[in-house]
Amino acid sequence: MFYDATRRDHGMQQDPLTALIVPRPIGWISTVDGHGRVNLAPYSFYNAVSASPPMVYFATTGTYGDNPTKHSRRNAEETGEFVVNMVSADLVKQMNITTSMVDYGVDEMKLAGLTPALSRYVKPPRVEGSPIALECKYWKTIEMPIEEGREKQQAVVVFGRVVGIHIDDRIIKNGRIDTLAFKPVARLGYSEYTTTENVWRMPRPDDPRYQ
Ligand SMILES: Cc1cc2nc3c(=O)[nH]c(=O)nc-3n(C[C@H](O)[C@H](O)[C@H](O)COP(=O)(O)O)c2cc1C
Repeated sequence: MFYDATRRDHGMQQDPLTALIVPRPIGWISTVDGHGRVNLAPYSFYNAVSASPPMVYFATTGTYGDNPTKHSRRNAEETGEFVVNMVSADLVKQMNITTSMVDYGVDEMKLAGLTPALSRYVKPPRVEGSPIALECKYWKTIEMPIEEGREKQQAVVVFGRVVGIHIDDRIIKNGRIDTLAFKPVARLGYSEYTTTENVWRMPRPDDPRYQ
């Protein structure tokens, strides 16, 4: 089949777009507001964009009730910092609780029964028990184009520079990260998820550094 992405004439009950770009890593973003109140929310429009310098982004889409600005974006812009926590298989239920739409200032980390862990270079706390955390300094926000008739749905991409990285020592084996030791969770379409359960190697033909 083929469908026009602007007209969305796919004929399906639900827009399939997010089921087509899979699996997506989940950036579990912790921030604080100007009063130091903690915020935590999952973002699957998240990824690394550069290794040098180490840069990541998360993108907010749609509205938050009547408010076009999601709390993670607002806090990152206002206080200049955020932390990306890795969602391992054992944290998936808590992650789902932190997507709840709650009032500004409500601490989703507490709501999900999670414990904050101190960060080194930034104020937002990490999620204790998360095997990897990236401490980030906010860089800039880029606003996506506005679609006619969908003015309230504007997306923005929030970029940050990674300044500090926490890795649980238990997932380091022989000087490498053992992915199966923490089983990262990724987002599929709809309310579907997947967990990394197998790993294989395919060295590059032209570069023996990648083993
Ligand atoms: C696994 C998962 C991934 C999500 N990814 C995104 C995303 O990439 N962008 C977005 O705007 N909302 C995303 N959401 C919804 C937000 O988590 C939700 O709107 C949340 O309440 C935003 O919180 P905040 O306002 O505290 O930042 C996702 C939800 C889940 C469960």
